[in-house]
Amino acid sequence: MEKPKALATRMLFDEARAILDRHLDVEYSNGPERITRQELLHRVAHKAALICLPTEKVDDELLAAAPKLLIAATVSVGYDNIDLPACSRHRVVATNTPGVLDETTADFAWTLMMAVSRRLIEGENWVRSGTWPGMDIAQLLGTDVYGKTLGIIGFGRIGRCVARRALGFQMRVLYHNRNRVAPELEKEARAEFVDLDTLLRESDFISLHVPLGPETRHLMGADNLAKMKRTAFLVNTARGPVVDEAALVAALEQKKLAGAGLDVYEREPIVHPGLLGRKDVVLAPHLGSATLETRTKMAVVAAKNVAAVFEGRRPPNPLNADALGL
Ligand code: DGY
Repeated sequence: MEKPKALATRMLFDEARAILDRHLDVEYSNGPERITRQELLHRVAHKAALICLPTEKVDDELLAAAPKLLIAATVSVGYDNIDLPACSRHRVVATNTPGVLDETTADFAWTLMMAVSRRLIEGENWVRSGTWPGMDIAQLLGTDVYGKTLGIIGFGRIGRCVARRALGFQMRVLYHNRNRVAPELEKEARAEFVDLDTLLRESDFISLHVPLGPETRHLMGADNLAKMKRTAFLVNTARGPVVDEAALVAALEQKKLAGAGLDVYEREPIVHPGLLGRKDVVLAPHLGSATLETRTKMAVVAAKNVAAVFEGRRPPNPLNADALGL
């Protein structure tokens, strides 16, 4: 019997391909070129499953172009690329990949925190330029991380993983979240629930871990940036639009904060030109979950979600369960 057809907008990994290929005839995008929107709309047309990344929008236009689609599986935990009400209207279940990237993304938030506060990239560029004259007493002086106050905005799985790492740095940990978390979770991370203003005013490092939505878009705008300590650093491994980049550039110029470590941007892959030349920012290309182990696990989770639909089961990570006729 002919297998249903699927489109994977990336190569995925062997482990994930093995799961998908059991059930589906999958067209993988293997090339280095990323799929254009037009190509996506064209290639998804007769597919029953789509496996995509957050760089691809799943919206009414795409869903209308793919009348046979049953599932859109994003290989990411964030799903702001997916219009869930539109998926439900088209009876397409959308899924994501929660739980397998928390520790890896937390590692990367810390990577940015350390890199920006210890001026690692400035130093590395100096060494590579061949002009570094050797160490000196007041060269590239950074800021201690150890013993400082870490403020975490968004205390879900990733935020809590970031907090746990702070124990080893003997930091005070503040968090702000829509809802206060259970006491045992606070205890595990020795984290204190505070209002947003307190967190902004008292933290030496602020790390963002909120999903992107109407309430969090430009959460770090001019007003909230101005509340930060002038010596504090902002780290964003969540979603770019949580930070108003123009406001961040202005705040950095006015020395309202000490620096920023960014992994995500408002209009990826475009980065605000005002950030590009600054030494007080570290700019990473959306690497939060980018380890071989974790990206493989994410692809496998996405593949398992897809496989479940074609086995007549509920996928493990549905985002719009109402679309499931199971
Ligand atoms: C996610 O999972 O949402 C990341 O941004 C993609 O790695």
